[in-house]
Amino acid sequence: MEWILALALGYLLGSVPFGLIITRLAGAGDLRSIGSGNIGATNVLRTGRKGLAATTLLFDLLKGLAGVLIVAQLWPEWVGLGAIGAFLGHCFPVWLGFKGGKGVATTAGVAFGLAWPVGLAYAVTWLGLVFTVRISSVAGMSAAVIAPVVALALGDHHSAMVLAVIAAIVLFQHRENIARLRAGTEPKVGGKKS
Ligand code: G3P
Repeated sequence: MEWILALALGYLLGSVPFGLIITRLAGAGDLRSIGSGNIGATNVLRTGRKGLAATTLLFDLLKGLAGVLIVAQLWPEWVGLGAIGAFLGHCFPVWLGFKGGKGVATTAGVAFGLAWPVGLAYAVTWLGLVFTVRISSVAGMSAAVIAPVVALALGDHHSAMVLAVIAAIVLFQHRENIARLRAGTEPKVGGKKS
């Protein structure tokens, strides 16, 4: 029974669509009709409001971290399900008809919660590529794929398994970005359109 509670608690935390809420509260419109339509920080940036994008990034990260840390306190043996629950909550929130985000910021928080060195590797990969390649989807997908590899290299097989499941779903959530990358139409960070 505890495993269901861990998954549900993680899911509930992850399902709070901070990007949508923050942008609406700031009067910057409905994110779902802006740019890529995604509810994440990259799309908030397309409103031209850097502060809102940074706030979204921070809160989406914190909810992933909270999902892991709270479940680790309550039901330590089910921390992996708390992590996956938080991630799934962000990607498939019941409040938005299960159409949520792509999970990159939430996965950063999850990775830091599971094993901080893995979170660090994730953040360095993600931010490093955002500032060099300047394509958010490439940065996010690369960080998601590298995280389980780093966990495995550190001998943390549990985190590696959890992060591998998450990485597979991150790639699935980016299927439209992958199509745009193949077509050469994926926008750079700071661009206005998807
Ligand atoms: O974190 C989401 C990012 O990887 C892609 O966002 O809005 O360009 O589809 P977007």
